[in-house]
Parts: sequence; C-alpha cells; structure tokens
Amino acid sequence: MFGENGWYHPTTADRIADLAGRQDEAIRLAEKRAADRQHAKGKLTARERIDQLVDPGSFTELDVFARHRTTDFGMDSHRPYGDGVVTGEATVDGRQVCLFSQDFTVFGGSMGEVFGEKVLKVMDLAMKLGCPIIGINDSGGARIQEGVVSLAYYAELGRRNAHASGVIPQISMILGPCAGGAVYSPAMTDFTVMVDDTSHMYVTGPEVVNAVTGQRVTHAELGGAQTNSEVSGNAHYRAADEPDAIEWVQTLLGYLPQNNMEPAPVYGFHHDTELTATDLALDKLVPDSPNQGYDMYEVVRAVLDDGDFTEIHAGFARNMICAFGRVEGRTVGVVANQPTVSAGVIDIDASEKAARFVRFCDAFDIPIVTLVDVPGYMPGMDQERGGIIRRGAKLIYSYAEATVPMVTVVVRKAYGGGYAVMGSKHLGADVNIAWPTAEIAVMGAQGAVQILHRREIAGAPEHEREAVRRKLTDAYQQWQATPYVAAERGYVDMVIPPSRTRLQVARALRSLRSKKQTLPAKKHGNIPL
Ligand code: HXC
Repeated sequence: MFGENGWYHPTTADRIADLAGRQDEAIRLAEKRAADRQHAKGKLTARERIDQLVDPGSFTELDVFARHRTTDFGMDSHRPYGDGVVTGEATVDGRQVCLFSQDFTVFGGSMGEVFGEKVLKVMDLAMKLGCPIIGINDSGGARIQEGVVSLAYYAELGRRNAHASGVIPQISMILGPCAGGAVYSPAMTDFTVMVDDTSHMYVTGPEVVNAVTGQRVTHAELGGAQTNSEVSGNAHYRAADEPDAIEWVQTLLGYLPQNNMEPAPVYGFHHDTELTATDLALDKLVPDSPNQGYDMYEVVRAVLDDGDFTEIHAGFARNMICAFGRVEGRTVGVVANQPTVSAGVIDIDASEKAARFVRFCDAFDIPIVTLVDVPGYMPGMDQERGGIIRRGAKLIYSYAEATVPMVTVVVRKAYGGGYAVMGSKHLGADVNIAWPTAEIAVMGAQGAVQILHRREIAGAPEHEREAVRRKLTDAYQQWQATPYVAAERGYVDMVIPPSRTRLQVARALRSLRSKKQTLPAKKHGNIPL
C-alpha cells in the first residue's frame, strides 16, 4: 500500500481488500458481537431479524459505513460502523419493502444524529418507491450523549410518519425496549406488533412511575405485550416470540397494497357457486332466544375465502372484531360485533379500534364488510366520563368518510346508535343485507315496552302485569324488531336466508369493483380525537 517513497499509494487490489476489511468489521464482526449479547437475552440481532423477515438474499443494506460525528462524553473514541441501526430495502414474498432495524448492542440502539439520518433516509426512500416501511424497534430511546439533536430526529421521524400515513403502509415491530417519546413513532404507524417477555413500551418506566406516583409496577404490567395488546390497545398483535411476530407481519403484508395508488394483491381462489355445508350452517347459527349469544367468527369464516383471516387487535376490545381476509381472492376488511363478548356492545375501545381500522381500509382502498349484531352504545358512568360521546363519534366519522365499497350484513340486533354507525346505508354503505333474524329498531323489545307502555303496565292489576308486559313485548318484537320496516324503506336492499350470505357478499363486492366516489375537496377533516 505504501510506495518506495513511503507515500500512501494503494493498488486497486489493496483498495478492494480494504473494502472487504471494512465490511468484515461493519457486518461480520459487529454481528458476532451483537449475537453474543442479544442471544443471551433471547433476542435476535438487528440483521437476523431482517433476514428472517425478508426473502432470502433480497436485502440490500444502506449506509453500512455511516458513523456518528459526536465528540462529547468521549464519544470520538468509539465510532462503530452503522451507528446502531441497520437500514435498507428488500422483498417479502417478492414485494418490495423498506426497513430499519435498531441494534440494541450499539449505544443501546439509541437515536443519535447519524442514526436519525439513516432512518429518515430509508423512510424517504419508501415514500419515493411507494412501498411499505417496517421499523424494528429495540432501543433505549434518545441518545443521551447527543442531547437535543436526537430529539430533533424523533420529531423529524414523527413528521415522516404523519406524511406517510395513508400513503404507504407503516408497520412497527417492538422487539425490545421502546420508552419515552420514542413510543410515539410506532404509535403513529398503522400496525404495531409486540413480543411476550422481551418487549416493553411505555412513556415512563417503572422507576419514574414509582418516583412520581409511589406505585410499584413491573415492566410487564406497565408496558408488556399483554398490557399493550389487551388493555391499552397500543399493540395490534401479541406474539409469543420473535419468529411469531415476523410471521404475522409477513401474513399482514400479503393483504396490503404497496401504497394508496395500487390495488392489494389478488390471489387465486376456488369459488363455490353452490351452497356449502358452512353456508348452510349459518341457517342454524342464530339462537331462538334473543338473550343467547353465538360466535360471530362463524359468520366471518363463512364469508371469507377458505375461512381464512388475520385479526387486528384480537385481544383488545373483543366485543368488536376487525380482520383482514379475502373474498374471491381480493382483500377485504371485516368489522363485526361479537355477541359473545359484552353482547357486542360498542364501548370506547371498540369504537376506536374499529374506527382506526375503517380509516386504514379506506385510505388503502380495501373494501369493508360489516357484520352487525349490536345492542347499541355502552351505557355507564365510566363510559360517559371517559368520553364515549366524542370517542364513539370516531366510528361514525370513519364510516361516513369512507368511500371504498362497503357491504353490510345485519345478522341480528341493530339497535339505536349501533344500527346507525355499523355501516348503515345512511353513512354510505353501498349494499345492505339483512338476515330474517335481523332486529332493526331503536332499542330491544323489553326496553322499548318499558318506556312506551310504562303507565299501561303500571295501571294493570298486579297479577296481570307480567302478562300485559309480555303481550306488548311480543307485539313490539313482531312488528318492530324485524328487518322488514327497514326493508320497506330501502334501508336494507335485501333480506336473504343466512346461508346465501357468502354468495351475496361476493356478488356485491364484484359489482362494486368499479365504484368511484370522492368527497368535497378540503385540507383535511377534523375527526373528534
Ligand atoms: C445512550 C444508551 C441509552 C440511551 C441505553 N444505552 N439507553 N446509550 N442513550 N438512551 C446504552 C447503555 O449505556 C448501555 O451501554 C447499553 O445501551 C445497554 O443498556 P443497559 O442499560 O445496560 O440495558 P438494559 O439493562 O437492558 O436496560 C435497557 C433500558 C435502559 C431500560 C432501555 O438502558 C434505559 O433505561 N435507558 C435509558 C432510557 C431512556 O430514558 N431514554 C430516553 C427516553 S426519552 P454499554 O456501553 O454499557 O453497553 C426519549 C425522547 C424521545 O427517547 C423524544 C421523542 C419526541
């Protein structure tokens, strides 16, 4: 490398060897060090995670040699390549994605200036290419040594998340700590996955909670996968381990378009034109007693190709089901009340869960199939004080704003506000179907009779009161709690035997493929937040 005069004069072979040495240091040696530390904690390294997620050999890494420029706190003595984040592009099932994967073994995967530059660059690339961005989070948050600079990059990241929202799908995997303001970028993305035991997400950790409030809580109680997927709803999927999380993301991507201008992928399917055993089972699904539940998943499975679906927020607000599936090979979003959980009532959590899902589907041109069995909005002090008015309004707003094809099936109860909000004709659904078991009314028979006929019942001799109540309830049930009052007015387009649901939903979606609807031009709406 050095000539006779001692000057630096590398040959081409020297330069290539030098590159190989740098690559060895940046990738092989760094990976070895990272593997030792991460595996000991039951975690994969940043690159192993990417390798498992993407098609073999498809990953092109960017900015391998990027290094921080900080001199404070003795940082200039340690300038590892990559700066704690691996970024690049790859394919998943042959479809392009951009990724960043935080490397906890380098400065705790914390966000510094160069780290931030790399993440923003790959997000900008995803926007240019029009492909999903997947962020793999495992980080101590803002890099303390870099101070306000790291905060600036979080804000820049939040701006990118907002601008990308509704343009490209954004997916966050939380595979380690994610604390402080660092939680807000994943929260702004469309889907967040957490892993049992190894991932945590909270604004302030247990020590701060204890110092400020005196409460003693564990990391898991405060922000583990279960807490975030079942209680707070910050996580859309709770994975048993990292491979489970990775597989879920791969499956999810298969339902999604690359961006808001492209259709979701279409898969082959076998369309039974005759009624199947699953179809026929629907004729016996709804129990004779209105107080008895049944499992709405039976209807979901019957409507979707191969009965296959991927649920979003499966453990959160289980009274509302949100899932991606396919009808005739094309992605649909299913929104359904679940009568086995709190009778399928809409509470704050259910409203927000479904509203966000409806908005995602609408932004990415995914038709919505709504299955209705809802007694209405949840009454109660907690709900009213918690803001069910403005938070329940999100669901109405979301449906009203949606312009994608919408098909609604009223299976049983569609009472009060529940009727109006769950994909009613009046909010913009295109095809509204009812089963003969549908009860479309302001409220259930018992409640209605109690209000309408209170005096009449009270005025009856005591020994006859129950019989009078019964007679009035039966009359209401017979004349009001049916699909036919709504059908007379065209609020439902057809009443069909349950067994024909799959065929009718498929037919409706087929005919709606050419639907084009636009709303008045505006800067943006003001959804109640
Ligand atoms: C620099 C950090 C770091 C950070 C961790 N490290 N967090 N370096 N900045 N924020 C380094 C540690 O010094 C250590 O380096 C290595 O990463 C591993 O950290 P440990 O503490 O040994 O790991 P562990 O015991 O697993 O604990 C993980 C942790 C803890 C719970 C995340 O490290 C922690 O509490 N970190 C600080 C979290 C935090 O408060 N971040 C700021 C949040 S505010 P060595 O060299 O010893 O291996 C924020 C604002 C964002 O993020 C604003 C957005 C708008």
